[in-house]
Amino acid sequence: MERRNFLKTCCYSMVGAPLLASSIQSCQVTHYAIAKKDGENLIVEKSEFWEIKNGKRINRSFVLISNTNDGFPICLQKLDKDKYIASLMKCTHQGCELNIGGGIYTCPCHGSEFSITGKVLEGPAEENLKTFEINTDNENIYIHDV
Ligand code: FES
Repeated sequence: MERRNFLKTCCYSMVGAPLLASSIQSCQVTHYAIAKKDGENLIVEKSEFWEIKNGKRINRSFVLISNTNDGFPICLQKLDKDKYIASLMKCTHQGCELNIGGGIYTCPCHGSEFSITGKVLEGPAEENLKTFEINTDNENIYIHDV
């Protein structure tokens, strides 16, 4: 292989590797968690964040909960070892249901974007997403006032 072609191939590989990694990450299969209702609260087992593939335990970064009172799903994100955030997937601009992918929420209606923690990244939405108070014990995650 000529030196020029070798360098070109290396450059394409260096550019392509992060893109491949991010596309693999964004291909994470969406998992709908089973959430038990307890009055105004939802209880989700921590094991909903685990998946066994080829005998290995894989940790999910988020799960969706569909049985909410609002009619919109809640996205429960794992931020750290025992730190979670739950956001209502309802755009604060005009109320469209949000998509999740690539580490952000996007609105299919007018293009607003929100961070994983629900902060507005891009308008026209001006208000952050509705988030819920959470606490945990050894087995469960409790989402309050849903
Ligand atoms: S409803 Fe989401 S940007 Fe308008």
